[in-house]
Amino acid sequence: MPVRDVDLRFEEVPKYFVAGDIVMSHLFAVLSATFPDGEESFVRSVAAVRDRIDDDQLAEDVDGFVGQESMHGREHRAFNRHLAALGYPTRRVERYTEVAYRWFERVAGPKVHLAATAALEHYTATLAELLLTDSDARAVFEHDAVRRLFLWHALEESEHKAVAFDTFRHVGGTERMRRITMTAVHMDFLLELVAMTAVSVALDGNARRHPTQVLRGLGRLLRSPFVSAGAVRQLAQYQRRGFHPNDRDTTGLVATWRHRLFGATPEAITDPGRRVAGGSE
Ligand SMILES: [Fe+2]
Ligand SMILES: [Fe+2]
Repeated sequence: MPVRDVDLRFEEVPKYFVAGDIVMSHLFAVLSATFPDGEESFVRSVAAVRDRIDDDQLAEDVDGFVGQESMHGREHRAFNRHLAALGYPTRRVERYTEVAYRWFERVAGPKVHLAATAALEHYTATLAELLLTDSDARAVFEHDAVRRLFLWHALEESEHKAVAFDTFRHVGGTERMRRITMTAVHMDFLLELVAMTAVSVALDGNARRHPTQVLRGLGRLLRSPFVSAGAVRQLAQYQRRGFHPNDRDTTGLVATWRHRLFGATPEAITDPGRRVAGGSE
C-alpha cells in the first residue's frame, strides 16, 4: 500500500469548481471539509489497537492506511483553506467535524469506533469506485488540481478499503455491531451532509441572489451518478450478512488507475514516501 506524497496547488480553482454548479460545489466543499478530521479519527481508531494486531500483513496494511489517510488530510486541508478564501464555511465544518468525532470517541469504545471507521470507509470506497468507473462522475471535476485530488484520493480509498474492516474483525468486532453501527452511520452521515450543504448554500450570497440556479443544481444533483440507484445499492451491500469489502474485486481497477495517475507499474510505486508531483489522468 504505497504512501504517495503528492503536492497539489489550488490557487487557480474557481468558486464553483464542480461543473460550475452551485449545489454540487457546496456539496463537495462540505465533503472535503469533513475529510481531514474524519481521517484523523479513522487513524486514531486503528492506532488504538495497533499493538493487538499479531498478523504481519494486517499490521503492514494498517501502517499504509495511516500513511495514506494522513496525506489525504493534509491535501484536503490545503484545498479547504482555498475554499474558505472563496467564501465557503469549510473552517466551521472542519471544527464541527473535529468536535463531533472527539465526542463520539469519548462515548464509544474502541470496537464501535473501529466499526464506524469501517462503515465510513465503505462510503469512501463506494464513492471511489464510482469516480474510477464512471466518466460522467469524473467529468464534473473540470479543474485539474481538483480532479487530481479526488482521483488520487479515490485510488487510495480503493487500495485500503478493507483495512479498517479487517482490523475491526481482528480485534473481535461482531457482525451485529458492524451492521448496527452502519445503520447509525447512514442516518447520521446523510443527515449531517444534507444539513451542512443546505447551510453552506444558504450562507452564499450569490446563491441567494440566484435561487433558480440553486433549484436547477439540485435537480442536476438528483439526476447525477452520485445519487444513482447503483450507488445506493452498493452502499446497501454492507448490510448483507457476511459482507467483506473485497467481495467487490477492484484489483484491476486499482492497477489501471495507478498507471493512469502515476504512470508507473504498480511495483514501481510501492516505495513508501516516494515523492510524486501529483499525477494526472
Ligand atoms: Fe482518505
Ligand atoms: Fe480511507
